[in-house]
Amino acid sequence: MDAVLLETSNTKHNTKLSSFGKTLIYATGGLAVGVSVICIPFVSPAIRRVCLPYVPATTEQLAGVTKALAGRNGRLLDVGSGDGRIVFTAAKLGFKADGVELNSVLVYYSRLAALINPLYRGTRFFRRDLWKFDLKPYNNIVIFGVEQMMNEFERKVLNEVKSDTVIVACRFPLPNMVPVETIGHGVDTVWKYVVNR
Ligand SMILES: C[S@@+](CC[C@H](N)C(=O)[O-])C[C@H]1O[C@@H](n2cnc3c(N)ncnc32)[C@H](O)[C@@H]1O
Repeated sequence: MDAVLLETSNTKHNTKLSSFGKTLIYATGGLAVGVSVICIPFVSPAIRRVCLPYVPATTEQLAGVTKALAGRNGRLLDVGSGDGRIVFTAAKLGFKADGVELNSVLVYYSRLAALINPLYRGTRFFRRDLWKFDLKPYNNIVIFGVEQMMNEFERKVLNEVKSDTVIVACRFPLPNMVPVETIGHGVDTVWKYVVNR
């Protein structure tokens, strides 16, 4: 009789443990899937032809971009807009500013920030590949890229934009165009170019 009682209580205990175990497995599994879904857009640039990771512009770079854009107006595009900080800086300066960005998490983050802050109204964020995005409508373009892409990006710019368009390059300059202004130094250097045909 005692043995039967002991077995019954063990079985109950095991059942309790196993449902706790299941919950734990579901929770960890769910968490792992969630973390992977968030991380994939950040990791995937590494497997593209040009690896352009998410590195946000520093306060010094933003100040350099602001200086380079002094006296300008119209439409501005930040190429690879990250969390939207350059687009938002440009919006505060009075530009009609857009961002193109491949990372969907950063695009949704930027759109949410734009929705919440009235100063950022009118900004737009496109979840697109920068190499397939038309630069023609913009008379101001900002890029914080990587060295390996600047040659191809310069060709794209020269093929697509109108004369007098201003290009602002952060950290890595355009390889062939001559800057009209160089602002800051080291990793925070910003180069300003004017397309002249
Ligand atoms: C160096 S970060 C610059 C972010 C932002 N412009 C800033 O200055 O804070 C480059 C951004 O380009 C994005 N990116 C990488 N490859 C891209 C592509 N093919 N098309 C659009 N965006 C891309 C990355 O996800 C990353 O957010």
